[in-house]
Amino acid sequence: DPYTTVALIVGYLSGSIPFGLILTRLAGLGDVRKIGSGNIGATNVLRTGNKKLAAGVLLCDALKGTVPVLAIYWLFGLEASLVAGFGAFLGHLFPVWLKFKGGKGVATYLGVLLAAAPLFVLVFAAVWLGMARIFRYSSLAALTAAVAVPAALWIAGLNEVAALFTAMSVITILKHHANIQRLLSGTESRIGDKGKARD
Ligand code: G3P
Repeated sequence: DPYTTVALIVGYLSGSIPFGLILTRLAGLGDVRKIGSGNIGATNVLRTGNKKLAAGVLLCDALKGTVPVLAIYWLFGLEASLVAGFGAFLGHLFPVWLKFKGGKGVATYLGVLLAAAPLFVLVFAAVWLGMARIFRYSSLAALTAAVAVPAALWIAGLNEVAALFTAMSVITILKHHANIQRLLSGTESRIGDKGKARD
């Protein structure tokens, strides 16, 4: 129906804004895709050494998920708002502006969660921060949070939201394939490690 289509497009356009790339360039630090993992997310922006910039990217990449979900919820209701969230997530991963080569979706996932089921941000945060504190891998922290959040949503019986987050978790886990290989081979970079230039 037209509401679903509008929700998907609005979400996608919001999610496709590559804040990591834009803010890093504005800060005069060049193209974030040329350092570290080559990703456009906050984790890789942190490898520039600029913590405030990384925090800003995390916030903007999260809010570009939160804002369309809340706006579409207000306009068209719950189901369309979840479609907008999925659109924002897909926009971050596959932005038309970057020839569909976007990020891994963790911050936007968190932003959509903040709008769709705010209490479950606590599950995400507890798992992410706990894992990050123990192992110091951003990717591993995100991967475990991506398992815990849908599990908690299913247990709570929020079936529609749980279905959305299960789908987003599967996609974000697949997008971490290179990180998973580096984790398994012991070559993943730890939080706080600076990024080396890539060629
Ligand atoms: O949020 C993305 C994070 O899980 C991994 O980022 O740059 O280490 O591939 P990166």
